[in-house]
Amino acid sequence: MRVTLQPSGAVLDTLPAERILAAAQRLGYECPSSCRNGNCHVCSALLVEGRVQQEGEVRDHGEIYTCVAEPLEDCVVLWDGVLALGELPVRSFACQLSECVAVGGDVWRVRLLAPAGKPPRYHAGQYLMLERDNGERSAFSVASAPHSGRQLELHILVREDSARNLIAQLQRNSGARLQLPFGDAHLAELPDAPLVLIAAGTGMAQMHSLIEHCRAQGFAHPVHLYWGVRRPEDFYEIEQWQAWEHLPNLFLHKVVSDVCGWEGRCGLLHEAVCEDIADLSLPHVYASGSPAMIYATLDALVAAGMDAHQMRADVFAYAPRP
Ligand code: FES
Repeated sequence: MRVTLQPSGAVLDTLPAERILAAAQRLGYECPSSCRNGNCHVCSALLVEGRVQQEGEVRDHGEIYTCVAEPLEDCVVLWDGVLALGELPVRSFACQLSECVAVGGDVWRVRLLAPAGKPPRYHAGQYLMLERDNGERSAFSVASAPHSGRQLELHILVREDSARNLIAQLQRNSGARLQLPFGDAHLAELPDAPLVLIAAGTGMAQMHSLIEHCRAQGFAHPVHLYWGVRRPEDFYEIEQWQAWEHLPNLFLHKVVSDVCGWEGRCGLLHEAVCEDIADLSLPHVYASGSPAMIYATLDALVAAGMDAHQMRADVFAYAPRP
């Protein structure tokens, strides 16, 4: 039987006579449970569709206890608190501002410190939601890597009033409330393959996290970073850049789209990738930028031999193509 879990949409294939909790745990899910015999109700869920057998009764709707509920047909179950393998729970943090500096290209580097004894847990490449005083929340890639402990680094482009107001808010409040982690374009596990990282503008923050994580983990496969901006002066300072230049397996490529004749490359990011990498069937590709840039990159790399499943980007989740 197939049991679809909401809100995640994850699907469990149960074995004959297997109960829902047992199936979920066999498949690596972390689930709320305690007594495992229908008494404590910790494992309760809402049966939305389908029928289950539970303690001698057939149920077709309402609350069920997943430790004793056996599906009789395909079911849909609303079950809060279930985490897939490698998935981390979203938590809130009240962080202190430890740094807020302009680093060139109208970008500010912001460093926030989570409370002592409560280090944030996230995978390299994930993002956070920062609360604003007007009640809205803004998403930012976490530029730091999980081994950085309490410190969370953000790269914020400050060209509009909204971003200027956010910087002023951070300085005024000497900190911020935020939630993390979000996003599935991450490196929960390092692949046994090269990496191609493609970043437009402050999309660099996500790649910064991936590179620092690879560095800390001793990742030995080649890593190609392609960082694109419109004008050379839009590149901003990356504190670790010089250290990165000395890594034998890290290849750094700066690409400018609107100005030719500067000392580096000009053109589009996907053109540079296709020029350099003859065999695109191998690398895992991570990309960060606007939806238009991400889908143009996807189409170009697929045309050049990449399988679409090799590429990961947050855009695929928040701006899916029709
Ligand atoms: S774990 Fe106690 S009722 Fe299911």
